[in-house]
This record gives sequence, structure tokens and C-alpha cells, in this order.
Amino acid sequence: MNIRELLNERVRCAMSDAGIPPDLTPNVTVSKNSDFGDYQANGAMAAAKSMKSKPRDVAKLIVDNLDLSGVAEKLEIAGPGFINIHLDPQWLAKQLYRASKDSKLGINTKATPLTVVIDYSAPNLAKEMHVGHLRSTIIGDAMARVLHFLGDTVIKQNHVGDWGTQFGMLICELENNMSEGQQVDLALKDLETFYQQAKKHFDEDEQFAKKSREYVVKLQSGDPGILKLWQHFKEVSLRHSHELYLKLNVSLSEKDVRGESAYNDQLGDIVTLLLDNGIAVEDRGAKVAFLEELADKNGDPSPVIIQKKDGGYLYATTDLAAINFRVNQLKADRVLYFIDARQSLHMQQVFTIAKKANIADQWVSLEHHAFGTMLGEDGKPFKTRSGGTVKLIDLIEEAKVRAEEVVRQKNTQLSDDEIQTIAEKVGIGAIKYADLSKTRTNDYIFNWNNMLSFEGNTAPYLQYAYARICSIFRKAEINIDNFSYNLTISQPQEKALVIKTLQFSEVVNQVSADAFPHILCNYLYDLTSLFMSFYESCPILKEGVIEAEKDSRLQISKIVAQTLKQGLYLLGIDVMEKM
Ligand code: ARG
Repeated sequence: MNIRELLNERVRCAMSDAGIPPDLTPNVTVSKNSDFGDYQANGAMAAAKSMKSKPRDVAKLIVDNLDLSGVAEKLEIAGPGFINIHLDPQWLAKQLYRASKDSKLGINTKATPLTVVIDYSAPNLAKEMHVGHLRSTIIGDAMARVLHFLGDTVIKQNHVGDWGTQFGMLICELENNMSEGQQVDLALKDLETFYQQAKKHFDEDEQFAKKSREYVVKLQSGDPGILKLWQHFKEVSLRHSHELYLKLNVSLSEKDVRGESAYNDQLGDIVTLLLDNGIAVEDRGAKVAFLEELADKNGDPSPVIIQKKDGGYLYATTDLAAINFRVNQLKADRVLYFIDARQSLHMQQVFTIAKKANIADQWVSLEHHAFGTMLGEDGKPFKTRSGGTVKLIDLIEEAKVRAEEVVRQKNTQLSDDEIQTIAEKVGIGAIKYADLSKTRTNDYIFNWNNMLSFEGNTAPYLQYAYARICSIFRKAEINIDNFSYNLTISQPQEKALVIKTLQFSEVVNQVSADAFPHILCNYLYDLTSLFMSFYESCPILKEGVIEAEKDSRLQISKIVAQTLKQGLYLLGIDVMEKM
């Protein structure tokens, strides 16, 4: 149980003992200002309103019944009826010490873990991954880590675009290259150029275009030769993606890939099901679901085509088959989609149909966690100087180069090898953190200087704080991993820092429910800032500090470091002992 839950529980008991109706809640929150306690119970006001008595009287009634002995050192009633709770430093010290002994830092894992399917990254394999794939990949991966950490069974699904008419053209191009004696791998070395070549041929060469269309038909009817080429193309393209995942420290692997093509043989059944239960109807040769639930302002239902007149299936049909698989085979309780906001209507349509057709029963939670666009300095979608899409690989390389510069300036004592390793972690960390720390539903401006700064809410700031703590231990010639000492809290900065550290559990649980990783980022930033002020006002290795105090402060620092490391790990960001 975390602090807030514990206090809520105790105040609820007090309210019940005081005869306050059970539908009235304690409403315990973290105080904004420690002068007003560490936590506050704000439920007295609403209770008084409903009981038609004075808020301060109700607050007094609650306090009289409230047993927080050993937990709080002082309770006071303030303002219109707030109950300010000042926690007992002894108790806090014990909580934090215990948390540090726990491999999960005292985090509340879930009492009833869920099976959660997470759909993220999902690039279209026809092209090379570009910055447009970054947000889904990074945010989805952070959520996979968070939910796994809390004990859920997480099943990652990389719903890659590996099917569709584009593949006819690509296979045709590949075949041409091979007849000229090129190796497949070599031909596809630069996927972007390859795609552009194919597109050029398709647009300019009538023969080529005709053949491409034939290949689409052949692919769909399962022609072995064409299938083999398609398979080959897919493999090479996926290999490109997995190289990037590795560089980005993203946990997706080959076994998480289940592309659109995996659902091909179930699409017919989905259409039949929807026709049978009247959700879809025939409309000018096509099969369409008209959704009253999503009607526009004129009252016209929202049309979703599930099969075209020529028999072809659509993006929505595949997504319905995927839901069927995820819910009925993988047994998902929750399915989370990390796809940009432009696909919101599509997701709503698919979810509505899935629920209506009972492909997903009422207990399954289908969640589209949308995000905004990554913008350049000019406020327009992020592009290269010449206006092209930025390849992900180029972005990663640039991050490393820029990070190296910054790291070199910051610390002149490092060897070249050390700088390389650090620059990689700082560069990747910076890109990821810049994204994760923004409220995901908004667009955000991509800015190298901000994200690589050692000040402010950035990855380097947090990574540096971690390295700083490690360096304190090095200076003290103490092995941080084996160090363990009892805590005492005497200074206000210590108390504030300890309380913040203990709130890690609350924060991670909140992120798991709402899928907003920026909450975790803000937390880690606050934690680091509190550590910095603690470090300034509570000397550790300075002469004159008594041994017990030094060890206690080292112990606090150690737990802060553990929390930073764990928190950043959940965001997919590495720390290092030196930087
Ligand atoms: N491949 C799609 C795209 O690039 C994203 C797929 C997202 N996942 C899904 N189940 N629709 O836009």
C-alpha cells in the first residue's frame, strides 16, 4: 500500500467511526506546500455539505476518530476544513529503508494482474522507418515496461504493414534487380531509394505498372514464386527495423511481429459475421457498416467499408480480425493502441464494430492512446532541410554526434571510449525523454539544444544526477550495491526527498492506468531537483559531518539513485555510473 492509499484507508475508517455516510470520500492528496502538512485530507468540506453541518466541525469529528499513531506526528485542521497531515520522520525512514530492500523498490504490484496487448511501432514495411514512427515506438515501449513491472502479462504486437497493393510494385522491382544479378540484400540495402526507384518505374513505365498489378493478384492468390519474393522483401525490411529498435533500446523483438498479412485468411469470416448479425450491409456492391453511434452532426451514420466492390478488404477489416485474435486467442483484458491522433476516427469505428459484434465482449477494454505530431522549429511537421521525411537512422546518428559534443564539454577527464558509450546513451536518452516528457496528446517541437541540455527536465539532467550519486560513493570508497544503513531524517530537505522517493509507487500505478508517461518524467525530474537541494543543504562527505549522519545520507542517496535508475529503465533509458 502506498502512502496515499494508507492515509485514505485510515481517514475512511475515521469517517465511518464518526458516523459519516460511506459514500463520502476522504479525498487525500499530496500537499502543495509542506507548511500545510505532507498530505491533506480534503473530504470534510463535501461531507459537511451533504450532512448540512459546519466543515470545521466535521473535520474535527474526523480527526477525533483518526488513528495515525506511529504514522503522523501532527494533525491540524486548517482553513475551511482541510486536515493537514504531517508524517512522522521515523515512520518515513522505516518505509523507505524497507522499500530499498525490495527488488521492486516497494512498488505495489497488481493484486489482479491483467493480460494486456500493446499495439505499437507498426511501421509500413514498404519503406524505411522514419521519424513518424518514433512516438508510437517510444511511448508504446515505455508502457510495455511499466505494465510488465507492475505484474501484468504484457503481449507486444508489432502490427506492421506488410500487405497491400504497394507490394506488387516492390516485388516487381526486386525481380528486375535480381534478373540483373543483384543480391536481394544488396538491392534492399537502402530501402528508401529502392522504394523510390520502384515508384518511379511504376509511374513512368506502363509495362512495369501492368506487371505490378498482376503481381498483386498473384500475391493474393498465393503464387509460390511471388510469395517467396514478398517474404524475402519482408525479412530484409524487418531486419532494418530491428536494427533500429536495438539502437533505440526498444524491447520489440521478432517474436512480437504479427503483421497485417497474418490476418488474411480470417477476413472473409469477419465480413460474414458482420453481415450475419446485420452490422454490415451490402451497399452498391460493397459491404459497409453504418454506425449510428458515430453519426455526424446531421445525424448521418458513420460509414465503414469492410469489403470493397472488387472483393478487396480494408485496413478496418484487418483491425477487426486483429481484435478477434487478441481478445479470443491471446485472452486480452486490455488492448492498448499507440497510434497517432489522425487515426482516431478509424480506431473509434473499429472499436464500435468490435463491441457491437461481440468480437470483444463488454469486459475487454479497447483503448486508443493517441498522440500528436513531432514538429520542427518552424512549427510544421519535422522534415529534412530539403523538405523530405527524416529517416530514423539519420536522427539516431545525429543524436550521437551532438551528444558527444555535449559530453566532451561537460567532462574533460573521460577517455574516448568512455565518451562514445556515454554519448550513445545520452543521445538516445535525450530523444526518447524529450518525447515521453511531453503530454502525449499534444504536438511538440523537436529541439536538439533543449533535449541535450544538462539543465531542466531532460534525460541528461537525470542521467547526470544518477552519475553524480555514483561518484559520491566512489569518492567515499564505498560499494553502492552492498551499502546498507539505517535512515534518520533530521532536515526538512531530507524529509521532502524521502517522501518524494516513496511516491514512486503511486506514480507508476497512475501511468499504468492512464498511459501518460510524462507523469513519470515529471516525477523523476522533481525527485532529481529535490535531490539537488538536499545535496546542497545536507553535506555528506564534508569534514565535520558525523559518521551516522553521513551514512544515513548515503543511504538516502542510494535509494534515490535506485529509483532514478528504475524509473528511467521504465522509460527505456539507460543510466551510467560516470559521465
Ligand atoms: N501501419 C500503420 C501505419 O503506419 C499503423 C498500424 C497501427 N496499428 C493498428 N492496429 N492499426 O499507419
